[in-house]
Order: sequence, then C-alpha cells, then structure tokens
Amino acid sequence: MKLTQHMQVVNNELNIADIPVSRLKEEYGTPLYIYDQKGIKDQAKTFINGFHSKKFTTHIIYASKAFLNLYIAQLINEQGCYLDAVSGGEIYTLLAAGVPGEKIYFHGNNKTESEIILAFEQGIGTFVIDSQTDFYKVEKIAKSLNKEAKVLLRINPGIEASTHKYIQTSRDDSKFGMSSHDEDTVTLVKEMVKSDWLDFAGFHCHIGSQILEERFFFEEADLMLGFCRQMEEETGCQVREINLGGGFGVYYSQADRPFDYEKFLQSYIQVIEAAIDQYGLEHVDTVSIEPGRALINDFGTALYSVGGVKHTLAGKPFVFVDGGMSDNIRPALYQAKYEAALANRMNDEVEGEYRVAGKLCETGDQLVQDAPLPEARIGDLLVIPRVGAYTYTMSSNYNRLGRPALVFVEDGQSYLAVKRESYQDLLRNDYNYKNKED
Ligand code: LLP
Repeated sequence: MKLTQHMQVVNNELNIADIPVSRLKEEYGTPLYIYDQKGIKDQAKTFINGFHSKKFTTHIIYASKAFLNLYIAQLINEQGCYLDAVSGGEIYTLLAAGVPGEKIYFHGNNKTESEIILAFEQGIGTFVIDSQTDFYKVEKIAKSLNKEAKVLLRINPGIEASTHKYIQTSRDDSKFGMSSHDEDTVTLVKEMVKSDWLDFAGFHCHIGSQILEERFFFEEADLMLGFCRQMEEETGCQVREINLGGGFGVYYSQADRPFDYEKFLQSYIQVIEAAIDQYGLEHVDTVSIEPGRALINDFGTALYSVGGVKHTLAGKPFVFVDGGMSDNIRPALYQAKYEAALANRMNDEVEGEYRVAGKLCETGDQLVQDAPLPEARIGDLLVIPRVGAYTYTMSSNYNRLGRPALVFVEDGQSYLAVKRESYQDLLRNDYNYKNKED
C-alpha cells in the first residue's frame, strides 16, 4: 500500500497526522473515515496558486458532491475556494456552513422549482444553465420573484475522455449540457443574451471525471474558447466568464499515473491565455475550474475492524470488515480499485493476497480484490487509503447499517466532524404502521 503524505509507520503501526490509528479506533470506533486536514489545506493552496493568471481572475470551485458536510465546507471556504452545488440539499448545507451565496455555483440538469426559489432567495451567485427547459424555468422564477441572476450555459464539446463510461459527461448522447455542434444551442444563447432577468456571462463545461491524461483538458480548453469566439460572432454575446469544470484524475492503485497538478495547472493556464489571445476574446475576466476528487480524495482514509477470515473452495481468501458497500459503493458501481493494509501490523510479512469484503448482504460487497496482507486475524485494523471523494457522499443505510463516524486530524489532534449514525437515527423518519390511533 502506497502511504499518503501525512502517514507514517511508527512501531509497526500506521499513524495519520501523528496519531496512531488504534487511538482513533478507541476514541471513535470503526468503521471510521479519517481526513487529513493539512493535506486538504495544502492541496487547495496548490490549486489556488497554480491556477493563477495576471490576465484574468481565476476561481477554484470545489465540486462539493465529492464530499460535503459543514466541517469540510467551512474548511474549503476558508482556503479561498468557491463551491458548487447541484441540489437544494447541497445549497442548504453550504449556506448553513456560512459560505456566502455569491460564492456558490448552482448546477443541475433538472433543478426543481423549490430549489431555484431557494437559490434566488439566498442570493446564489451563478446559475449554470443546462438546457432550454432549465433556462425557461430559471427565467420564469426570476421574473416572478423580481430577481436577477448571473448565468453560464453548460456546453458539451463532445470529447470522449478515457475514463469509466458512467463518469464520462461529454459524449454526444450525454444527459448534461447543450452540444457545441447543435443549432439549438445558438438559438438558446441568443435568447439568454436577450433575457431581461438573467445576465448571460459565458459558458461552462465538464468533460468527465477521473481523467488521467492532461491532453483532454488542453483539447477541452481549445475547443471551448474556439466555441466562445464562434458564439460571439453568431449571437453577439460577450463572453466574460468561462468555467472549464473538473475531472483531474487521482491515484487509487498502481495502474493509475496521475499528472503533477502543480506543473499541469501552470501549463493549463498558459494554454488558456494563449487561446484567449488567439480567438480574440476581449471580454473574458474570469476563468474557473471545478476540482472535486483532486482536492479531497488522497486525504480520506477508511479504518475498519477485521471480524473474520474465510477460505472458500475457489478464489482468494476473504477478510471481512465491519463496513462495506454502504460506506463505499465505488468498487461495486465502477469496479474501482483500492489498496489496503493491516494498520496495526504494517511491517509484518505478507502472507498472501486477500479479498476485502464488507458485511452487507450482497456478493458485490467487496472493497478490494487483491490486497497483499499478513495473515489476518480477528481484531486487526484494516485501512483503505484514498477514499476521500465520492464515498461518504454516496453512502447508504443498506441493511440498516448506520453511516460511519468521520474525523479530521492534524498535528496530533482529532476533530469529530460527523458523528456515527445510531440505531435511533435509522428510525428518525419512520412512522408506525398503526399510527393513526396514536
Ligand atoms: N463539475 C461538474 C459539473 C461535475 O459534474 C463534477 C463531477 C465535477 C465538477 C467534479 O469532478 P471531479 O473533479 O471530482 O472529477 N461518483 C463518481 C464521480 C461522479 C462525478 C460527478 N461530477 C465517482 O465516484 O467516480
């Protein structure tokens, strides 16, 4: 298992931010999600400093769907990032965390009326319009509330970046955005420019997630800025703002070779600056990107207790842990690969390869297929690193498992950010069958 930046092995035990994981287990129990606070702060800094230009303002917009609760929203906001939301629930959480409305970008291919009203009432800074219907809905509500809003239009530039097909977003049949090759897009831009209520500021796009090749982002920037030029000519619009989305890939296992973000961001800015000049885009004053996974994934670690080992007639032995697909659906949904280690026996000799399986009633409830581990025993602590993004936010109560507790750690201190769900929590919205008489 490749250690992350703030992990050390001390006396055969894994420490994170100078805390032995057994201490975290004693204090908070397992399963436990542990987030490295310093790592997240440094990564936000890398993005903010790296994606910087003298020619225009830049925004790093954290894609909050990757991992969201009050604590992380406050931490990320404090680093100087903007944040995005795709639902009323995400908007509500961000506002409750104290994120100013004007720093929020509101996405979504099917924003509901109540979500749009909430966004207007709370002064959300930018709506990212996904389609004609979305535009009509937002405009109608703006008019009825007598409010104005800045809007971007999401464009699908048709780049099939190589990644899992469930997280490609720029194929011609994608449900997101308006195609850059569609005549309807030109018509919609003309309508948006004419709107009395919505202030058309420019375009957004996002070509997919967990993309490990830089060239797709350069291609995206060039296509999008060329498209901006074409729209300025065909519709008379003025493009002031461009949001190029996220999707920057991370390391999960040995097959993944992510690029160096610091170097990449500098080249990316240069490519964007050159394309803005080349296409003569005179009005651009803001360029943004929207990383989710790249800001957070490396810094989350899942800690489980081993409850048993099982040898089957065929296949690698199982090591059973006390969580599973209810806290990390990614292996079942995307065949995602992770690494693992026994955190209390980091230097013990490897005995063989295990499959790490959870406790849920599904054959697909397997977190790692090929973890080289020492002979596992009941009571061992098993860690899976790099689970910061799209795990907790995609978790469920399947089999009525409560969601794990979640802590942040920095410099030997731990801070509870989300408490473990109790049995009572699982019943909080349930009614009795015969409640009419109650
Ligand atoms: N911007 C937009 C409009 C997005 O839809 C997304 C992700 C992002 C930014 C951030 O992408 P990132 O930098 O995190 O790759 N559940 C899947 C990933 C879904 C991504 C959804 N959109 C997974 O676990 O791999």
